[in-house]
Amino acid sequence: MSTASMIILDLLAGVLAAGGWLGAGAAATTGRRRLTLGLIAAATLATLARAGTTVALARAGWWFAGEKVLIGAPLSLAALVAGLLLRGPVPLLFAGYASSAAVLVTVLHGYPASVSAGLLAIAGVAGATLVSWRLLGGRRLPRTAVAATLAALVTGLGLAVAPGAAPAVPHHHAFAAAPAAGEPAERFTLTAATATVRVGGHDVDAWAFNGQVPGPQLTATVGDVLQVTLRNRDIKRGVTLHWHGYDVPNSQDGVPGVTQDAVLPGQEFVYRFRAEQPGTYWYHTHEASDVGVRMGLYGVLVVHPAPVTGVDVTIPVHTLAGRPLPAPTTSPARAGTPIRLRLINTDSTTHRYALAGAPFEVAAIDGNDLQGPAPLSRTAILIPAGGRYDLTLTAPATPVALFVDGRAVYSTGPLDAETAGWPVLDPLTYGSGAAPPPDADRSFTLVLDRGLDLRGLLPRYAHTVNGAAYPDIPDEVVHLGETVEFTVVNRSPAIHPWHLHGHHVLVLSRNGVPATGSPLWLDSFDVRPGEVWKVVFHADNPGMWANHCHNLPHADAGMMLHLRYA
Ligand code: C2O
Ligand code: CU
Repeated sequence: MSTASMIILDLLAGVLAAGGWLGAGAAATTGRRRLTLGLIAAATLATLARAGTTVALARAGWWFAGEKVLIGAPLSLAALVAGLLLRGPVPLLFAGYASSAAVLVTVLHGYPASVSAGLLAIAGVAGATLVSWRLLGGRRLPRTAVAATLAALVTGLGLAVAPGAAPAVPHHHAFAAAPAAGEPAERFTLTAATATVRVGGHDVDAWAFNGQVPGPQLTATVGDVLQVTLRNRDIKRGVTLHWHGYDVPNSQDGVPGVTQDAVLPGQEFVYRFRAEQPGTYWYHTHEASDVGVRMGLYGVLVVHPAPVTGVDVTIPVHTLAGRPLPAPTTSPARAGTPIRLRLINTDSTTHRYALAGAPFEVAAIDGNDLQGPAPLSRTAILIPAGGRYDLTLTAPATPVALFVDGRAVYSTGPLDAETAGWPVLDPLTYGSGAAPPPDADRSFTLVLDRGLDLRGLLPRYAHTVNGAAYPDIPDEVVHLGETVEFTVVNRSPAIHPWHLHGHHVLVLSRNGVPATGSPLWLDSFDVRPGEVWKVVFHADNPGMWANHCHNLPHADAGMMLHLRYA
């Protein structure tokens, strides 16, 4: 069974155990013996089942089970002992509270187990039990028990709201390196403004660069210096330009509060960098990026290694006001013409792409050429949020068509194809040339989950990394020249498309299985529920870099940290 389904099963068992004990306690207070015994039996089975899922998850990796073993299991054991060995409704209710706490620790706190979570769990169980005891006619509450419960509560809360080790706000502009010198070969101006744009025959409100969604495509040739002037007409929250996947100097990376201030209405900012990496990239605002990108502040950046021959099409997929972009296009291609389709996912969730009508190759992913790509046909491709795949093919005499989630977006002629049943390409086994992993000088682990964040002004159910949410996640600190490995573990039931700024990471393994295809240098990769990815990068671009989930609502809800050079 997959780790993802084990995670679900574990929650299910936890909920059933809690419900069973609580139900048994309620039945016992009303004196219904048969029902009580039945519920005790069910609760016992569910508790044992949860012991099983906890062991299975611990074997999949300690990250999946730490808090279940250290906090959940003792609570569940206490529940079993009280529920099975003691008489009366109060022990059964205690078992219910303890089992509830055991599952709440997972849902609200997760990995790693912390003293504060343990104390709050104990305080909750003790408090609820004391209240039940009193309500069910017990004597006055023993003073010491009440005092101990309050002490656990106060200490637990204190630890939960105490600021973490992370600096609250990153040191502003600490790494402002000079932008590229030299005469720009390409000058662009992007003006951000509110606009009404037409999508699929409807007028929708958008935020647009130069009045269009996507913004103008920026095209350059390797070696060019690009100069892009960003102006903000009326986007109140401010805008910046982040060059997604382009490893620019830190000062040009466009992260507000880290590498620059957001550009407010009436202001401008000039970006300048040398186009050294060929390939397919995109740009987008990084201020309030969740809403900004969704509303349309994005565009394509393509850097050509040489003059273009053949057909070269960019297909940035986006959902604007619930409607899919781009509009479908059809343009005939003479048989024998080389075609390159640059697929870009600018949404926050994965899209499925399928090319019908001809064999094709995946020539590049995230701007990096693959080694030894084999021809594919009737094979679908999943592109994570922020990711890019370049497909190459030779136009046949008959039409070809590209479908995104079943919708044709590009074709060379009329072609209907049912692509839903096609198998999906695994990039970790595609192509050839994988080398043994380099020795790492440093390593980090990022455990992705959801959890209660009590450190902000208002409590929120955040998307967390190692049990904390932005801005309380400690920086990853590296030194220039190091080889840095990091492991990304997804304990949550959602996909997290991971994205590191300023660097590409080489994929080493997924779920312990080494990547065997072409060396895979990515800037955006989907970590699915229950997955463990090991990647490595070279610390060769000093600065302070965002490292976050590119499901932008998740990033906004805490799933964001910084990589910082010491
Ligand atoms: Cu495409 Cu930090 O973003
Ligand atoms: Cu996410």
